[in-house]
Amino acid sequence: MMGSTKVTAESIRAMKTRGKKIAALTAYDFPTTKLLDEAGIPLILVGDSLGMVVLGYPDTTHVTMEEMEHHVRAAARAKPCALLGADLPYRGYETTDDAVVNARRLVAAGAEAVKAEGGRTILDQVRAVVAAGIPYIGHLGMLPQSIHEEGRYHIKGKKENEREALVADAITLAEAGAFAIVLELVTPPVAKEITETIPVPTIGIGSGPDCDGQILVTNDLIGTFPWFTPRFVKPKLNVAEQMRSAVFEWMRSI
Ligand code: KIV
Repeated sequence: MMGSTKVTAESIRAMKTRGKKIAALTAYDFPTTKLLDEAGIPLILVGDSLGMVVLGYPDTTHVTMEEMEHHVRAAARAKPCALLGADLPYRGYETTDDAVVNARRLVAAGAEAVKAEGGRTILDQVRAVVAAGIPYIGHLGMLPQSIHEEGRYHIKGKKENEREALVADAITLAEAGAFAIVLELVTPPVAKEITETIPVPTIGIGSGPDCDGQILVTNDLIGTFPWFTPRFVKPKLNVAEQMRSAVFEWMRSI
């Protein structure tokens, strides 16, 4: 179904009130953004997962502001009805000034909302971005930009102190003006508790079914990055295999 009305941060927020599940996917280029938009996805994210699934980096800590801007520009050229979000990259929001300057750069490139990783530890930055009038998406749970400190990507919320911290972070982000919060690899009962506690939508990834919406890296969903697929993803296509067959068939035909 092709969307026709422009999606705003407010309309994403209102989907929670209406009980309408929010389907969100990533895109890093013009055609993917256009295809997702034509399918009616209301929230498209130029995620810094860009680093792995497009740019070939081992993790998201290598992604630069310039790379984010380049891909946000490409995605924005699709002029989606969907709300186009973009990640503030690693070390892109260490101070309130960094956060606002870089959020503005992403907006100038075509983003309509920005996302950063963390809760109370980046509260000043979140408040500064919101005060600058830029719609803000929170990101809690497993934080990929902290991979070097954490050592591995692991599930959050199993321990009581983690549960308490996640709930407190989510409440704080919502109070600071985040219009949605991504919960990545949060134990399903804690994701459910947060969803029932805060007034803004939770968008889960590997955090069970009881979030207000779900987000996936599109490449994982359609199988264009076959060398690694997260355990919680059930791919709907195997594009990599189809591509190999098509290339092989063409090669033999010339
Ligand atoms: O970088 C990304 O793509 C993300 C989403 C998967 C939540 O942060």
